[in-house]
This record gives sequence, structure tokens and C-alpha cells, in this order.
Amino acid sequence: MNFDFDTVIDRHGTDAVKIEALVEHFGRKDLIPLWVADMDFKTPEAVRTAVSNCLDSGIYGYSSAPESYYASVLKWEKDINGLNLRRKEICYIPGIVRGISFALQCFSSPGDPIIIQPPVYMPFERLVRENDRKLVENPLVYGNDGYSMNPDNFEELCRTERPKMFILCNPHNPSGRAWDHESLRTIAEICRKYGVLVVSDEIHGDMPLFGNRFHSFSSVSDSAAEVSITFKAPSKTFNIAGFMSSYAIVKNDSIRERFFKYLSVNEFDAPPLVAAVATREAYENARDWRVEMLKYVEGNIRFVSEYLERNIPRIRPVIPQASFLIWLDCRGVNLTHDDLIDLFINKARLALNDGADFGTGGEGFMRLNVGCPRSILETALNQLKIALE
Ligand SMILES: Cc1ncc(COP(=O)(O)O)c(C=O)c1O
Repeated sequence: MNFDFDTVIDRHGTDAVKIEALVEHFGRKDLIPLWVADMDFKTPEAVRTAVSNCLDSGIYGYSSAPESYYASVLKWEKDINGLNLRRKEICYIPGIVRGISFALQCFSSPGDPIIIQPPVYMPFERLVRENDRKLVENPLVYGNDGYSMNPDNFEELCRTERPKMFILCNPHNPSGRAWDHESLRTIAEICRKYGVLVVSDEIHGDMPLFGNRFHSFSSVSDSAAEVSITFKAPSKTFNIAGFMSSYAIVKNDSIRERFFKYLSVNEFDAPPLVAAVATREAYENARDWRVEMLKYVEGNIRFVSEYLERNIPRIRPVIPQASFLIWLDCRGVNLTHDDLIDLFINKARLALNDGADFGTGGEGFMRLNVGCPRSILETALNQLKIALE
């Protein structure tokens, strides 16, 4: 391996939210932070050098978005995901959670029904509720093969609730499911039939694992391309979330005109200097790093899975098909919700995300971030084992 993912980097004093927000969120700071979804690996050297060179100029005035930024996005999506995009189909956005909120404001009105599929990344529910839209849930189904969608119920909800929008998490956070072609095609047909706009959050899309494939929603069928807005970013994959470097992809002309006009009228459409530099560099010159990082993460997932099987079989990991998060099924521990949280925080001294925060179906699960040196995971799992004993 040419890259170092083993060195433990102390993130104290760097304003990292996973450290600074420990007391506010968990009530104590002596916890191993395995929650907020960024990685504890240094960003690829190529990106660090490009950003440093950019900052060395010493003048941080207004910058224009270089065409090379868009060219690097187009080439990346073609090479990595097989997408044939045109320049006019992509537009910068300052973060994906913001992008979803922009889409809600642009394409729906207060009171409009919006579908989500819990348990799912918690801001989806918050964005719907706090933008005063009506939350409509099509819960995922958890079976022996992990999570799947429930298309029959989805269609029934489209028929009865007449939702304006469906917010899809693809791949899914927290389960790590890289949705299969067929499920996405089925959803696309239903959404076309009922005139539902699909907002596909694909922030974890460039991190497929164990030979699984990621299917970008708009690529699965003509219907999918016609009904959707896709959000992508290098932020998770290259650990540059602090730079707000995301973009929207819209194939359909009328959706694109309306949405991109909303973005440009409000001046949300221009990448800040460092976001453009970091994205371009990551997409062009850090491809090997991504491949090695994913191998390391796969090793971490195997490590956690084998450790649990051997030492804590009552906790069962849902093996992710993408990204660096493991959804742990802790229901076998047979604790109440409060006792489970107390076990992780006050006994094992670990900061994981509480599954209940992901909405319906999340209680009894915990989300573990394995984007960190393996030694950290080993210490964390030992602490959990001792706490359970
Ligand atoms: C599914 C999903 N969407 C969006 C985000 C956050 O994206 P951004 O920082 O671009 O708003 C995350 C971060 O954890 C995520 O998991």
C-alpha cells in the first residue's frame, strides 16, 4: 500500500465537529468519536499541495469558477460512473443538505407531501418538517438480505398522498445499501406516473465496496433521467467536507432551467476558490488514493465484523455495500433504548450515532464510522466488549 491510513492523527484543536460537539451531543468529552461522517485520514497529498499552493498566493479575492473545474467533474463522472453528462447539466451547489433544501423551496410549497424512506440520514426529515412540508414515510424493509425498498407501499403513497417530491439516499445512509438497478428503475416508473420529483442524494456514490456497483439514479432509465435532480460531491470520498464542494446534475430541461435559475438568482451556483481547486485536484490526481482508501475501509469492515462475531455476537453488523459507515443491529443485546445509549456512552466511552435519530425503524441500531485507523476500532471494540461483560 502506497498510502498511510494507519497513523492516528489527533484532531483536537482543529475545530472538528466530531470532537468539539461531543459534550453538547453526548454530555461528556472522554469518548472515542466514531459518529460524524468524515474520515480520520489525511486528505490525499495532491489535494493538500494544490490547496496550499492556492493559499500561497496570499490574495483571496473573488474567484471565477474555472472551466477546468467543470471539465474535471464531467471526466470523473464519465470515467468512474459511466455518465455521459453535458456541461450545461451540472451546477455547483454549496453542500448537499442545502441543495435538498433549495430543491424543496424551488419545487414545493408549505403543506406539500414529501416522501422519505427511514431509517435514513436524519436531515431529510428535519428539512421536510422545518420547511413546513408534510412528511410521508415509506419505511425500508429489513430482512435477511439487509434493507430493501417497498415499491408497492411507495406507489400506494403516491396514489393517496400525491407527494411533490421523493428524497432518495443512494447509496443509503445508514445501511450502506448501494441500491440495485431494478429497484431504482421501479421507483423511477412510479415517480414518472405520478409526477413526483426525485431528489437523489449520491454523496456516498463514489465509494462502492466489495465489488458492488453504484448506480446513479438518472442513469438507470429514461424515466429516471426525466424526473430527477442528483446531488454529488467529492466531499466524503476525499475527506474534504469542510470545503463545501458539491454539485447538482439535472438531465431534464424544464427541471434544470427552473432549478439552475433558482441557484443563479440567489448566487448559490459559484464554487468558492478552494472548493474548485480541491475538487479538480481530487478528481484528476487522487484516483489511486481513493482505490487504496476503499481497500482499507473494506479491511476495517471485515475487522469489525469478525471481531463482533467472535466476541460480541449479540451485535450484528449490516455489511455496507458502499461508504465507511456500519449500521449495527444491537437489538440482540436486549436493552431499552436509554440503557443501550448509556452502555455506549457511559460504560464503553464511545460516541456512535444513535439509530433512533434516523427515524422509524432505527431504534435498537447504532451507526459506527469506520473511516479511521484500524487501531482505533480495535480499542473501541475492546472497550465495548468489556462494558458488556
Ligand atoms: C447522505 C448524506 N447526505 C448529505 C450529507 C452532508 O452533505 P453536505 O455536507 O454536503 O451538506 C451527508 C453527511 O453525512 C450524508 O451522509
